[in-house]
Amino acid sequence: MLPGDKSISHRALMLGALAEGTSRIRAAGDGRDVRSTAAIVRSLGVVVERHSEDGRTVDYLVRSPGVDGLREPDAILDCGNSGTTLRLLAGLLSALPMTAILDGDASLRGRPVARIIEPLRRMGAVLHARRRDSLPPMTVVGRRPLRSVEVRTVVPSAQVKSALLLAALGADGETTITEPLATRDHTERMLRARGVAVRSQRAGGDEVTVALTGGIPVRPVEERVPGDVSAAAFWLVAAAIHPDAELTLHGVGVNPTRRAAIDLLRRMGARIDEMPVGSTATGSDAGEPTADLTVRSSALRGIDIGTSEVAAAIDEVPVLCLAAAAADGTTRIRGAGELRHKESDRIAGISAGLAALGARIEVDGDDLTIRGPGRLTGAATDSLDDHRLAMTFAVAGLVADGETAVSRPRSASVSYPGFFSDLERIRA
Ligand code: S3P
Repeated sequence: MLPGDKSISHRALMLGALAEGTSRIRAAGDGRDVRSTAAIVRSLGVVVERHSEDGRTVDYLVRSPGVDGLREPDAILDCGNSGTTLRLLAGLLSALPMTAILDGDASLRGRPVARIIEPLRRMGAVLHARRRDSLPPMTVVGRRPLRSVEVRTVVPSAQVKSALLLAALGADGETTITEPLATRDHTERMLRARGVAVRSQRAGGDEVTVALTGGIPVRPVEERVPGDVSAAAFWLVAAAIHPDAELTLHGVGVNPTRRAAIDLLRRMGARIDEMPVGSTATGSDAGEPTADLTVRSSALRGIDIGTSEVAAAIDEVPVLCLAAAAADGTTRIRGAGELRHKESDRIAGISAGLAALGARIEVDGDDLTIRGPGRLTGAATDSLDDHRLAMTFAVAGLVADGETAVSRPRSASVSYPGFFSDLERIRA
């Protein structure tokens, strides 16, 4: 069963912390990343109860004194492996009159933070980080109100946009953020569902501007988190490249700003049927469209994937590379440089792992070329302790001849704790 969407689960916990009263989050993601966020929200003086009735789905109850009742944490905030926790909380904390230190594991300490420090400083918060303010740990000295600003970002990043929206809630006027490309809009949808107006409009070309006026209280809500499309992508690829497979995935989030991997796989020839499903009896689906997806063995062909598509499918590129290795013809992926700044250098990791399995994959700067179809042969692969690489190589092992070994497979539990048991079920 798919985990609840990780991006939405983080946001639901953080927005629950800002909303006075009781928020209920059903079917949340239960990976280590979301747990990192839950623990930090607790350390701000919020009651966060985690319930699991069936041992698989997890519900959270969040009881918050509201934004003015949050307390300064008395220890360093451990974001673990989670960039979303680190960056979004930096925005949230920037608008609170307190000092906090955000840190994480070795991978997180290598992830760029200048992209949030610079605009949050312009809003009036004081932030510092290691290596001339470029890498965590990071100190945030917040203040309320912040100044409202106009920000134009260079890298399309939902984390940066969301950090700024969370900060903008505590600003003295309208903050506008213009991005070069539309990124996932969960924060905007979730804020609207909580009574905060967020304007969003195309700015010209692919640019999108979002605007929010500070000072509006965030209301507590009850909602159900859709299934994580980034987790679903592993099974879409697994079934599509397998010679004899049919799989149905229920309740997958298919938000237009998040579903690029589904559409790219279809362009490659994947047979994926989509049945929209509405909101369920247990609460609304966080303002997000969901669908049941059925995928069957498919004859895939290579395609060209451009920079804007890379941004839209940023977390799914590794598993799309596996699909490309099994596809007839050449797949070119251009402008994938951001992949070097994820939980690992995913360009290096995916190319080394797929090459070990016998795929023909070339890297030229930030571009990847994959020539298929190659018969994959089982081999030792290195996940670099990165959940998305570990799961990609495990899926490759389903179709490779012989035995495939994946190093540090436990990294999968960062986003998908039940991944290996689901893999076993699917194999059976
Ligand atoms: C996320 C945004 C993406 C993505 C990450 C989750 C989010 O990062 O890679 O896994 O929840 O906003 P960027 O927006 O920095 O590319």
